[in-house]
Order: sequence, then C-alpha cells, then structure tokens
Amino acid sequence: MIDIRPNVHLTIDGVEVTVPAGTTLMQAARSAGLNVASLCATDSLKPFGSCRLCLVEVSGRKGLPASCTTPAESGMVVRTQTPQLARVRRNVMELYISDHPLDCLTCAANGDCELQDMAGTVGLRQVRYGMDGANHLHAEKDESNPYFTFDASKCIACSRCVRACDEIQGTFAITIAKRGFASKVTAGVDESFLSSECVSCGACVQACPTATLMEKSVIDAGLPDREVKTTCAYCGVGCSFKAELKGNDVVRMTPDEDGGANEGHSCVKGRFAWGYATHADRVLAPMIREQITDAWRTVSWDEAIDFTASRFRTIQRQHGRDAIGGVSSSRCTNEEVYVVQKMIRAAFQNNNIDTCARVCHSPTGYGLKQTFGTAAGTQDFRSVAHADVIMVIGANPTDAHPVFGARMKRRLREGAKLIVIDPRRIDLVKSPHIRAAHHLQLRPGTNVAMVNALAHVIVTEGLANAAFIAERCDDRSYQQWQEFIAQPEQSPEATEAFTGVPAHLVREAARLYATGGNAAIYYGLGVTEHSQGSTMVLGIANLAMVAGQIGREGTGVNPLRGQNNVQGSCDMGSFPHELPGYRHISDDTTRAAFEQAWGVALDHEPGMRIPNMLAAAVSGQFKGMFIQGEDLAQSDPNTQHVTAALSAMECVVVQDLFLNETAKYAHVFLPGTAFLEKDGTFTNAERRINRVRPAMPSRTGMQEWDVVCRIATALGYPMSYPNAAAIMDEIASLTPSFAGVSFAHLDRVGSVQWPCTGDRPLGTRIMHESSFVRGKGRFLVTQYVPTDERSTRKFPLLLTTGRILSQYNVGTETRRTANSVWHSEDVLEIHPHDAEVRGIGDGEGVQLASRKGAIALRAHVSDRVPEGVVYTTFHHPDVAANVVTTEFSDWATNCPEYKVTAVEVRPVD
Ligand code: SF4
Ligand code: SF4
Ligand code: SF4
Ligand code: FES
Repeated sequence: MIDIRPNVHLTIDGVEVTVPAGTTLMQAARSAGLNVASLCATDSLKPFGSCRLCLVEVSGRKGLPASCTTPAESGMVVRTQTPQLARVRRNVMELYISDHPLDCLTCAANGDCELQDMAGTVGLRQVRYGMDGANHLHAEKDESNPYFTFDASKCIACSRCVRACDEIQGTFAITIAKRGFASKVTAGVDESFLSSECVSCGACVQACPTATLMEKSVIDAGLPDREVKTTCAYCGVGCSFKAELKGNDVVRMTPDEDGGANEGHSCVKGRFAWGYATHADRVLAPMIREQITDAWRTVSWDEAIDFTASRFRTIQRQHGRDAIGGVSSSRCTNEEVYVVQKMIRAAFQNNNIDTCARVCHSPTGYGLKQTFGTAAGTQDFRSVAHADVIMVIGANPTDAHPVFGARMKRRLREGAKLIVIDPRRIDLVKSPHIRAAHHLQLRPGTNVAMVNALAHVIVTEGLANAAFIAERCDDRSYQQWQEFIAQPEQSPEATEAFTGVPAHLVREAARLYATGGNAAIYYGLGVTEHSQGSTMVLGIANLAMVAGQIGREGTGVNPLRGQNNVQGSCDMGSFPHELPGYRHISDDTTRAAFEQAWGVALDHEPGMRIPNMLAAAVSGQFKGMFIQGEDLAQSDPNTQHVTAALSAMECVVVQDLFLNETAKYAHVFLPGTAFLEKDGTFTNAERRINRVRPAMPSRTGMQEWDVVCRIATALGYPMSYPNAAAIMDEIASLTPSFAGVSFAHLDRVGSVQWPCTGDRPLGTRIMHESSFVRGKGRFLVTQYVPTDERSTRKFPLLLTTGRILSQYNVGTETRRTANSVWHSEDVLEIHPHDAEVRGIGDGEGVQLASRKGAIALRAHVSDRVPEGVVYTTFHHPDVAANVVTTEFSDWATNCPEYKVTAVEVRPVD
C-alpha cells in the first residue's frame, strides 16, 4: 500500500534521514542502518517505552527520550551513541541482570536471547549488586501448558508477552499484575496458563525476549540449526511457517512474518500440533489384503501398485468403465490432487472424481460462479482491516480459522461493527473488548429466509445502491429478483415466524450492513451444509450486490474455507463435471486442450459425485474407489450408509498417513506423506497459492503424486513427472487463472493469489474491482424452502455441529498430539431448560438419537445454544457424530445437511 504521510527530515548520528511523519526515532534510525539497543520494543507491537534501553539524546531537549516512543520531527538532531547513553544503558542492563539467573551456558535460549545480546551490545562487564537482596530468582515455573513453559525467574517484566496477547491475538489472557518490584506476568486471575483463557497461540512465546516463555521442544532438543519455509496443513487460513529443524527433526514451527496470510501469527494447531507427522501410529509401508476381513500384509510398492491396477482393471472388465472412481483430498497439495483427477480422467477413462469439498464448500463454488463468475472468495484477509461492518454468517472464526479470527478481532477492537448470524452464541458475540452490534440467533435451517429478509429491508427501505446495480449488474436479473424480494412474504415480520429472530433486529442489521460504510461478509459451513446451501450462497451474493458491498477493500463475500487446500482441490478439477480452472467437461474447446496435452480422449459426460458413487456401490454397480487423504467413514453423513457402500466394494484403496476408519474397509493401504515431507503448493481461502516445501525426506520413500502416476502407468496410461514443479508447470499451461504460477515464481515473490497471469504476475488481491468476472453481476431468486428435516414429537430438538479450536476435523492428526488436553472428548451442548426438563445435569451421559441412529456422549449444559437446539463437534471417532446425521443434502451440489438434524436427547449412564 502507498504511504501517503508527509515526510520529515532529521539527522541521526550525523546521517541525514527522511521518513514519513509518525515514524519513531528508533524506526528512523533503523531505516538508516543505525541500531539502537532495545528490549521492550519489537516491530510487531505498538511502542511501549518501559525498558529505558533505547534512550537517545536530542539536541536542544532536556533528558533522554526513549527512541521507541518518540516520533521523528523535522530538524531534529539525534545522537544514539554517546558516553552518557552508554553509561545509562549499562546501568539499566546491570539492574536487569542483577535479578536474572546467571545460567546462560545451560539456558535453553543460550544464543537466541535478546537479553544476552543486549548485555553484549551495551558492554556490560560486571554486576555490582550481589544476588543476596530481594530478587525473583526462585519464582515458580508454570509448566502446565503442554507446549511451552513460563519460567518467572527469567522474566524482565517487559510486557511484550502481554501486549502480544492483547494486540496480536486479542485474547487478553495475561496481565502484568501488581506494581514495581512485585510486578509479575499472570495468566487469568492468578491461574496456570492451562486453566486460564489462554488459547496457546504462541504469540507471547514468540514475543518474549528471554527464556521465560519458551517452547518445551526447544528446551528438550536444543536450538534448531536449519529452517525451511512451508505452509500449515490444517485450516484454510494457510499460515506460513519456518519449520526449524535439527537434522531431520522439527524443533519448532515459527510463524513467518512474511507470510501473506498470517503475517507472523499462528494458532495452537500450526504452531505446536505438528507431532503427528512423526507419530508412531503412522504406516510407512504399503499394505494389501484380499478381503477386508483378512489381516493386512506389508508389501513392496511394486506389489501394492500392481495389485491395485490389477483389481481396478478386473472390475472395469467385469462391471464396465464407470464401476470405479476416486476422491481427492483437500489436505493434499495442488500437485497431488491434480494427478489424482488426471489418473481418473485419463487412466480410469471416466469422470468419477469428487472431493471432500463436496461435503463442505461445494455450494460456494456453485453459488459464487453463478452470480459473480468465479468459484472463490473475493478478498484477501488483509482487506478486513478496512471493513466498517463485518457480517459473520454460520462461521466461528476464532475456533475454526483462528489466525484470521485474531485479525478480525483487531479490526473490531478498532471500532468496526459486528453482525453475527448463527444459532449458537459463538465467542465473537461477546469477548474481551468486543460486543456484536447484532446477534441474529436464527433457528437452524432458516438461513435463506434470513438473508431474504435482510435484502427485503434494503430494497424496500430505499437502501439499495442504485448506482452500483446500474453500472455493474445485469438489469433483467435485478428486476426479477427485486420483484421477488420486495414481496411482503420475504419481510422480517413475515419470516420471524420461521427464523425466530425479532423483525426489528433484522431491520437494524440490514440498515447497518447497507449504510455503515464498507461491509464485508464472512461465512462458513453454517451456510453451505444445508439442503439450501447453494441458495444461501446465492442470497449472500445478492445481498452484497444490492448494497454495492463488493469490488473494493473492506467489502466482499468471503467463504472461510475449512481445510488447508479445499480451494486448491476445487481449482484442480476435482469435481466430476469440471476440468481444472472450473471449466465444464462438456466444453469441447477446453476438453480438446486437455486431450492434446494428455494424449488421450476424455469422456465428455460428468461423472458421479461421492453420494452417487456410494449409492451405486450399495446397489452393486460401483465396485472400486481410490480415496486420497479422506476419511469417508467418519466425515461423511449417515455413517451406516457409507460403511455399507464401502463394504460392498471389491477394491477400496486408501492413501493416508494413518489407518483411519475408512481403512477398515480398504483392500490396499498406500502410506501418504505428512506436510513436512511434501513438495508442492496449497491454495488458501483467499486464493493464495503458498509453497509447501519438504523439511524432511519422505518417510515412506515415495511422494504421493509419484505413487498415483505409477498406478496410472500400471493401468496402461503412462504418467510421470521429474518433480512436483513440473506438475505445476503443466497445471499452469492448461489453467488460465494459474498461467503465471511456477515454483520458481513463488520462490521469488513468496505467494500469489490467483488469477495470476502474464499481466498480473503478482496475482489478484481483490476480485471484481471494476467488473464481475462473468461481466455483469447476476441476481438470482432465492425462494426459501424449509428443509424436510423438521423437529417432531419424537425428535423435538435440532442438532447442529461445528468445530473447536484445538482439534481439527475428524481429529486424525490433532488427537495424536497434546492438543487433546483441551478437548479430550466431543460433548453435547444443551440449553439449561432443555436439560432440566429431561433431567440432564452438566457432565452427565446422554444418548443423542435421530431417525438415522444413536450415539452416546456427555452433556454440557450451556446457554450458548438457544432452547430447542443442541450442538456438538465431530472430532472423535468414538462418538461418531455422523451416525445421526441424515441423507438430506443441498439441492444443487449434494453437500450434506450436517447443520440440521432432528434429534432427541435422554439421560443414560
Ligand atoms: S499463548 Fe496466545 S493466548 Fe496464550 S497467553 Fe500467549 S499470546 Fe495469549
Ligand atoms: S514473560 Fe517474557 S515477554 Fe513477558 S514480561 Fe517476561 S520477559 Fe517480557
Ligand atoms: S490458523 Fe489455520 S493455517 Fe494458521 S496455524 Fe492455525 S490451523 Fe494452521
Ligand atoms: S525499547 Fe524503548 S523503552 Fe524499551
């Protein structure tokens, strides 16, 4: 961004310096290559001015101002190095060191400690005050957090940790309690870190200049000796990290300040929960078995690949070309996903390829493509810093997208207004220094009625952005939609009966969205995982267009993608009807380009989606499936149906890190690579293509894409690449929005957001700036159709599901880390009134039953959920929450209706 501040000119240590007004003297000195000693200052935090180490002399001014808090002014003559300053700094350091353990040689931070560095910088040679007086040398250690230690004896009370927790993470979990000599860092109300509000994001550990807050992994293993920049493999935020290693062992993961998505911040998963990558449960050699009732037999790669190819060939000979298919994984790299869809289209000779995005964001792809012309979010994460109004619909960013959640909270603390549309009171509704202006606590399943009511208010109260609509949108579609949305049936007063939200609140929220300045919508699976998921995405797009809240910084429609590469797996052609770049398989020109590049004729008919493949398996027509990094048996709805389908197949191939629930039904297990072993790219929720670099060699001896190429070759379609970079080159040559992408380019510029083309080599931060990708924005009528899943006398409550910060999806990885201390089991949130009438107490066992099945779990009585609604997470296989979810799915994309299931809850032992 261009800095428009006026410049000031000054002299520092005889050097003429010109900096923008507002720059501190410390920053000004650094910009001229002059280093000033400091301890409490750090680039990522606001100036604080507590340590008094950075003092300088300014001609004509009395005293010694702190350079970290004093703004540069024109005409100033500043000296950073004088005998007087040297003396003062040494005295300050002496005081620090006189109350600090003198164990540098055996300290875990030896060589990576700013206090040690500063003692050297200021030339401290002796400490005149003995250690006999009052000191903190025996202060207690807090080792409660599984990942880091707080050693109070080493604390210099610089407050960097407190400021990091407040300013960067926004959790306000720690404070400096008491004053003067007694001042000390305290978690919560004098609690341990573990029992406090701390979410273990690591920002304080990162900020601490001493060994007070220190990663246990570094204490155990010593400091790392090399680093590799890579990308977190958990959620769709796509944080960049430096994997810091000793040999081939990761010692710590440090968030990368240059990371476009995270700018140096992290959450507990990416920062600390990487231990699963080397967990003893990982399977490292391929295994096969004739029947799923047989024991696994470890075999060579050649045998596993031949076995797979031979079974698939036999199935196709006996049952036809369409009897096999595959599922690609949103956890794998773009390159790995691309080769899987290529194997299926070119070697299987059908389009039976689908992806786990089917069960999460497929409605996003459909809805945004229909209205705007691109199946992706419109903004980068940074854009939220310019939003005046933030509308969060069916998403829980502080748990599911924590680093973006922290960024959003920063903007809310600066004064942006918040509208939350969610049946459950998520943390954002009320957290330190944040209060939602409106929480529209609607009944599960009524999203479309709600979005229609919001748009109704905008249209009927004359708040529509007529100029934007006239210039940017398709007039005919607008006229049709406007007639529909203005009908009294869409009004907040009429829809209140279904949504349960008082009409006046909906009116106020709509006015705020339309007239409160820049307004941005962020949404999650609470929008998509419904029988009207696609309709709701269309409704959100309509809302943004009618208010003109799109195409500029601080606005837009932003799906918060769940998995690390869900955007990428969709981009790479994982849907049965689309080739890479969202081009329909029936489009002759596109298909011809792929046929020419791949040297094979392609089927022009869309293939089967996951639900179709499973249904065909149950009815006996579909017999073989290649499943890349996806646990269908745990993550897909209606578990009994899924397992019946898997059991009915003759060849199920699972490529994964661990023997997951799906592997119980597999005939071939192909061990996969952890993200620390992968070479490739992930694309995050803001379309940012990030490099994933191998920090350690593949523990299986193979890359996943190479295994897939060998299966394709064994099936008779030769496929090979010299390396992952060559796969990206092929993707770029065949996919217009990736035309400018290559590993070499990414290594040069860091990351890019697609479209990245010849004329946009640095990618595209904000989409649809001057026109929509499809030309004119298209309004579509979004009739509210209540779901068939309704509460009844037998099943009077509505179950909705979600995620928790410390666990990830079905928990395959996070359950194999110390993150389980925060969430060792899935629990059922139930409103106090619903609990009371059923005789259920907090912490007691309950049975949760739907018409599909029943599961047992523990109740957590909480008013976070309204009466009539219960909520659980799905991270633990022993609870198997999807046993109760139904077969209902989105009308356009078959995305399952995870968010609404009619249930009953009763107490059990
Ligand atoms: S780990 Fe994060 S949340 Fe916990 S105290 Fe440190 S900064 Fe705050
Ligand atoms: S714990 Fe570290 S960052 Fe926090 S006040 Fe102490 S020395 Fe400073
Ligand atoms: S926010 Fe997401 S991408 Fe970032 S560290 Fe956490 S899990 Fe990883
Ligand atoms: S760095 Fe300026 S007072 Fe600490």
